[in-house]
Amino acid sequence: MCLSRHFMSRHFLHITDFTKQEILATFDLAQELKAKFKVRTEDKPFKNMSLAMIFAKPSARTRISFETGFFRLGGHALYLGPNDIAIGQREAVKDIARVISGYNDIIMARLFDHAHILELAQYSKVPVVNGLTDFNHPCQIMADMFTIKEHRGNLDHLKVTYVGDGNNIVHSWLELASRLPFHFVCACPEGYEPKRDVVTEAKRAELSTIEIEHDPFKAVKDADVVYTDVWASMGQKHEAAQREKAFQGYQVNEALMAAAGKGALFMHCLPAERGRETTDGVMESKASIVFDEAENRMHVQNAIMVKLMQHG
Ligand code: CP
Ligand code: NVA
Repeated sequence: MCLSRHFMSRHFLHITDFTKQEILATFDLAQELKAKFKVRTEDKPFKNMSLAMIFAKPSARTRISFETGFFRLGGHALYLGPNDIAIGQREAVKDIARVISGYNDIIMARLFDHAHILELAQYSKVPVVNGLTDFNHPCQIMADMFTIKEHRGNLDHLKVTYVGDGNNIVHSWLELASRLPFHFVCACPEGYEPKRDVVTEAKRAELSTIEIEHDPFKAVKDADVVYTDVWASMGQKHEAAQREKAFQGYQVNEALMAAAGKGALFMHCLPAERGRETTDGVMESKASIVFDEAENRMHVQNAIMVKLMQHG
């Protein structure tokens, strides 16, 4: 595999930055990279390249999977933590964008403000990959759908029910729903729905069935996948007590999984707060594929980066 630099950088900030064909090709490549990794086949498409990773928020999976993944494919990854750059505070985003992209071949950023990642990409001379913002988490949902495909063998007649906060994870599920056809239900308390314009945009694609529900038991009926996430995301931890009250009845527990029916898989982007949005029992159950989705982050992200560098 030979990658090159291009004059016009291509970014991965939203799942909709890729076409349906590109998403499916990314899954195929991720499968190939994973198979090679399992037997430690030598493959170094990122040889002599460096990845700058900017983190304004904490991370386990994103940092480890990007850093390890880029290294495994021959490159070098630099970790720039919240105190190193202080993006948008120590200097303007558009300034640091040009500085970092002058040294590196690709950038991954985890930021608070989505406008900052858009600005970073606008001024970067190299591809920028979104490693989560307050608005969305595209790499996560790409890895999740890849994981579902791995488990089911296909994505036919798929129903994914998300139970919890209509947050950045849900926005990326909605982005994916306008590229691949599936049935997506978000069951959340009133006042915690995903952004209306994101729902409207996903419905406008007329590809997937999209429902916003308030009854979790109704929502999970016949679901192939029941998905949840924390009730208070990074940057919202001060609202945790109030949110805990609002989300009573939205825990993905044994009773809710039973209502989903036999064979339903349980997913969570992690980190999980056991005892809140889900239970220890569900996390450890046979239905749980949370560690498979975490593992697949590395292979799917590597495939995304290869695609960005191939097409420029
Ligand atoms: N799922 C996920 O992005 O995990 P981290 O916050 O640990 O990176
Ligand atoms: N919604 C969570 C996802 C963490 C991966 C957050 O933003 O904190």
